[in-house]
Amino acid sequence: MKTRIDEIAPDLYRLCTYIPKIDLQFNQFLVTDDEPLLYHTGLRGMFPEVRDAVGKIIDPVGLRWISFSHFEADECGSLNEWLALAPRAETVCGVIGALVNINDYIGGRARVMASDEVLTTGRRRFRFLETPHVPHAWDASLLFEETGATLFCSDLFLQNGDLSPLTEADLVEPARQSLLTYEAGPLHQSYPYVSWTDDTLQMLAGLRPKLLATMHGSSYSGDGERALRELAAMFAATLGGVKEMVIT
Ligand SMILES: [Fe+2]
Ligand SMILES: [Fe+2]
Repeated sequence: MKTRIDEIAPDLYRLCTYIPKIDLQFNQFLVTDDEPLLYHTGLRGMFPEVRDAVGKIIDPVGLRWISFSHFEADECGSLNEWLALAPRAETVCGVIGALVNINDYIGGRARVMASDEVLTTGRRRFRFLETPHVPHAWDASLLFEETGATLFCSDLFLQNGDLSPLTEADLVEPARQSLLTYEAGPLHQSYPYVSWTDDTLQMLAGLRPKLLATMHGSSYSGDGERALRELAAMFAATLGGVKEMVIT
């Protein structure tokens, strides 16, 4: 395994480990502010590679914040390894995540964020967004970094392939192809379509992100509002049984 490092925006590093067997990239994001923040730890088995990649940018011992969308091995599997390595590091999650999984998993207390609460790490402002079951899991949340208009969107826009770090090309069609592929196989039903899925995606679009930092596949630079509204329409058609949806 090899982890590739790209600075996709000022002080925002994408750490990408591609697994050919499943044709999928696993991306962590490091924001090197006064208080460095890592979004997604990666799988526990990837920890040495991700730690060494972080070590090429900052001293990993100085990591201050660790956040992730939901409790799954690729999002936070090496959380305990990171907490052991970086003594000042704190886990950032929502109340559901803390109470249901994280406090028990880490044997301590996470920093619990309320929805819309902002974590300031120096120059950067991370708005915490509770998004239950979007992309998936009860405890799901996302972060929106306001100064760079970056949405850390986790498993939304998942695209297969060993793709470029950053693109201005459409993500929705490749994401649709990946979704259809998974729906036809043993990993089907990974994205629930609940009564608030569309509202959640429209809320994210309303943030007007300029950068979508995706966990699997290329990140996107451009009109993030439009991309999210198109994703919402694709989800409605693919998962929600809606035949046609007008994008405004
Ligand atoms: Fe996930
Ligand atoms: Fe993921």
